[in-house]
Amino acid sequence: MPTTGKVKAAIIGSQFQADILAASFHIMPEEAELVAVTSPTPRHPEELAEKYHIPRVFHDYRQMLRESDIELVCITAPNYLHAPMTIDIAKSGKHVMCEKPLCVTLEEADQMIDTCKKQGVLLMYGEELFFTPKYLKAKEMADQGGLGKIYLVKQSEKHFGPHSEWFWDVKRSGGGALMDLGCHGIAFCYWFLGRPRITTVYSQLGTYVHADKTKGDDDALCILEFENGAVGLVENSWARRGGMYDRVEVYGEGGVTYADLHMGNALPTYSEYGFTYAVEKAPTTKGWSYPVYEELWNYGTPQELHHFARCVRGKETPKGTGEDGRVVMEVLYAAYASAGLGEKVKIPYKPQTKMPIDEWLTRKDK
Ligand SMILES: NC(=O)c1ccc[n+]([C@@H]2O[C@H](COP(=O)([O-])OP(=O)(O)OC[C@H]3O[C@@H](n4cnc5c(N)ncnc54)[C@H](O)[C@@H]3O)[C@@H](O)[C@H]2O)c1
Repeated sequence: MPTTGKVKAAIIGSQFQADILAASFHIMPEEAELVAVTSPTPRHPEELAEKYHIPRVFHDYRQMLRESDIELVCITAPNYLHAPMTIDIAKSGKHVMCEKPLCVTLEEADQMIDTCKKQGVLLMYGEELFFTPKYLKAKEMADQGGLGKIYLVKQSEKHFGPHSEWFWDVKRSGGGALMDLGCHGIAFCYWFLGRPRITTVYSQLGTYVHADKTKGDDDALCILEFENGAVGLVENSWARRGGMYDRVEVYGEGGVTYADLHMGNALPTYSEYGFTYAVEKAPTTKGWSYPVYEELWNYGTPQELHHFARCVRGKETPKGTGEDGRVVMEVLYAAYASAGLGEKVKIPYKPQTKMPIDEWLTRKDK
C-alpha cells in the first residue's frame, strides 16, 4: 500500500448514504479519490458512477476487494451487512469506514474490532456528528469552560421515517428509531462529554404511527447517566411530521448553548410552484420550506471523510472508532431492555437477546 498521495477509496452501496459519501469525496478531494462503487442492484452503481465520475463499478463487493490498489472501503449497506462486510474488507487488507450503527449485535461488534486489529487495518466509525461544524463549536465552547460544569447534554433527531424498506424490517435494521437515530444521539452525548463511562440507561419507546410498516419503535426517549454526574437526553422519532429536525442543547452550571443543525443555515422560503430540493426528508418544496445551503458541509460528512483519509495515511488518529460504535451498541441493548422492563438499566449490560430491539419486543407485551 502507498504511503503518500491520495487514498484510493471505494463505496459499498449506491443509494442514499452512498450518494452523500460520493458527494463528500468531491467536496473535499485533497486527501482521497473515489475509484469504485459496488451494489448488487442493476443500474444503481452505474448511475452513481456516472453522477460522480467513479471509474470502476462492481455488482459483488467481494470482487471489488480483489482490486489491489483500493485502500479504504466505506460501507453504506443495510445494518445487518456491516459486520460480514467489515470482516471481508479487513481480511482483504483494506481499511474500513463503517456507517452507523456499527452492526446489529454486540457479538458482531467484537468480531469487527478483533478482526480489524488482527489484520492491522483501521475500523473507522461513521458518526458525522463528531464533525458537524455547529456541534463542534458547541463542544469547543464547553471544553474551554464557557458553560461551566456540564450537567445535561441533549441531542434530538426526528423526521417522518426512513426512505428504504429495509429500515422498517427489524431483522435487517436491528431496531427502530432508537437504533437508527438514537445511535447518533448516544454517540454524541458520550463524545461531547469526553467519553466518560455510561452508568445507566432509561428509555421509553412507542410505535405511534407506523405500526402497519414495522414492529420497531417509531418514537424514543432515552436518558443516559454518566460517571461524571452529567446526564444525556436523546430524543428520536420516525413519527415527526414536517421534515428533518436535528438539534442539540447543552446546559452547564455557567451557561447554555443551543444548536439547530438546519435552522440558521436555512433560507425561509415560500414557493407557490415548488422547486427540486430543499433539504433531507423535506416532504415538499411548495408553500413554506427551509432549504439549507451547503447541506453536506453543515452535516460534517466531507470533513469526516477527509479526516479518515488522513488517518489511512497515518497523519491523524481516528476520531470515530469501532470501540465508539461498540459503546453505542451496548447502550442500545440496555435502552431497549429498559423500555421493556419499565426501569433504569445498569451499564455494563449483558445482552439477553440476539438483537437490541428484541430486548423490548420480548418483554413489552408481558
Ligand atoms: N450517517 C448518517 O447520517 C447516515 C444516514 C443515512 C444512512 N446511514 C447508514 O448507511 C447505511 C445505508 O443506509 P442508506 O440510507 O444508504 O440505505 P439505502 O437503502 O438507501 O441504500 C442501501 C444500499 O446498500 C446496497 N446493498 C444492499 N445489499 C447489498 C449487498 N449485499 N452488497 C452491496 N450492497 C448492498 C443497496 O443496493 C443500496 O445501494 C445504513 O447503515 C444507515 O444506517 C447513515
